[in-house]
Amino acid sequence: MKAIEIKDGIYWVGAIDWAVRDFHGYVTPNGTTYNNYLIMDDEITLVDTVKHDFAEIGLANVRSLVDFSKIRNLVVNHVENDHMGALGIFMDLMPQATIYTTGRGKQGMERFFDISRWNIKVVKTGDELNIGRYTLQFIETPMLHWPDSMMTYVKEARLLISQDAFGQHLATTARFDDEFIECASHAELEDSVIDYYANILMPFGRLIKSKIKQIQELGLEIDMIAPDHGIIWRKEPMRPLEMYLEMADGKASLRVAIIYDTMWHSTEIMTQPIMQGIKDEGVDCKVIKLRATPMSVAIKEFWKSRGILVGSPTLNNEVFPSVAEFITHLRGLRPSNRIAGAFGSYGWGGGAVKWLYNEFQNMKLDMMEPGIQIQYRPSDEDEKKCYDFGREFAKAVKEYHKNFE
Ligand code: FEO
Repeated sequence: MKAIEIKDGIYWVGAIDWAVRDFHGYVTPNGTTYNNYLIMDDEITLVDTVKHDFAEIGLANVRSLVDFSKIRNLVVNHVENDHMGALGIFMDLMPQATIYTTGRGKQGMERFFDISRWNIKVVKTGDELNIGRYTLQFIETPMLHWPDSMMTYVKEARLLISQDAFGQHLATTARFDDEFIECASHAELEDSVIDYYANILMPFGRLIKSKIKQIQELGLEIDMIAPDHGIIWRKEPMRPLEMYLEMADGKASLRVAIIYDTMWHSTEIMTQPIMQGIKDEGVDCKVIKLRATPMSVAIKEFWKSRGILVGSPTLNNEVFPSVAEFITHLRGLRPSNRIAGAFGSYGWGGGAVKWLYNEFQNMKLDMMEPGIQIQYRPSDEDEKKCYDFGREFAKAVKEYHKNFE
């Protein structure tokens, strides 16, 4: 897709990745984009590059507007490969350019490239670079989501180039939120923001709140936010900030996600009366089988729900491997503000349910104990117990949810 002017003299020059479905293990059913921006000013400035595989597209978009020999500055907001992978290719064409990045950005860069031939200037929050009619202000955002991360605010354009923050994995010809809402829906857009936050930013909620507070204290006037993935926010430029603050505060629906796997269907059978009990208590419920669901989707469903019930059969006195994998992902994301419970089945010696509660405890999740486990095949009486367990868990979730209303 060709370059698009997003503000006077400022262009999106990125690439759309329609095909990516596995983004370092994170499933991206809707593809993604690698956004970067070219500012045509007295000092022509490029903000970020693109993923290595998309270098030719990125180069062509820049060339459609300017010869590389005329580019004076390159801002590197983030050194993850999807944005910096093509840096070497770009710099071969513009060796005269000065690179602006954070201290950690420079450290990251030298692990991938021979930077001895490049002129690199390290910037800090509040540093400014006047490039003509526009002034760039840099804002470090460490751990949002890498140590090197920063944003670039184009003062006179009221444009915040926010790198990964506020992005979404959406391959679309729509470049702006209003265009996307027109061709898809508002709900789909916001769901993509939640998906991105749940799978990448969940561990950094506290940092996100303080960083957004800092941005607010800087008094930046923002009427457009341009992230490095997905659509650009111009209709509702403050909406992604509001959503991030809500999510950092633990926003979730009064809902239970039952996330499970099964060997010979016993644990699976348990999900049905549990789900019915939850429903009869007036709480919405979603049932997710792990081996039938991409991990990132399971994580998103967890994040959208105030309560989580994890179900697992016992295998060799251990939890089922796919459930262990889910818990490993979850642990790394440091979840909070959710209440958890566990259920499962076993043959001659349990272990999975106990294992799950230990994990919940290690994650410091609030819990409803005890869970429920049944031997071999659920009997009618067992199914009644599962139903009651579902009702009790739903009651606990409703009570817990009051803390967030
Ligand atoms: Fe889109 Fe952290 O890279």
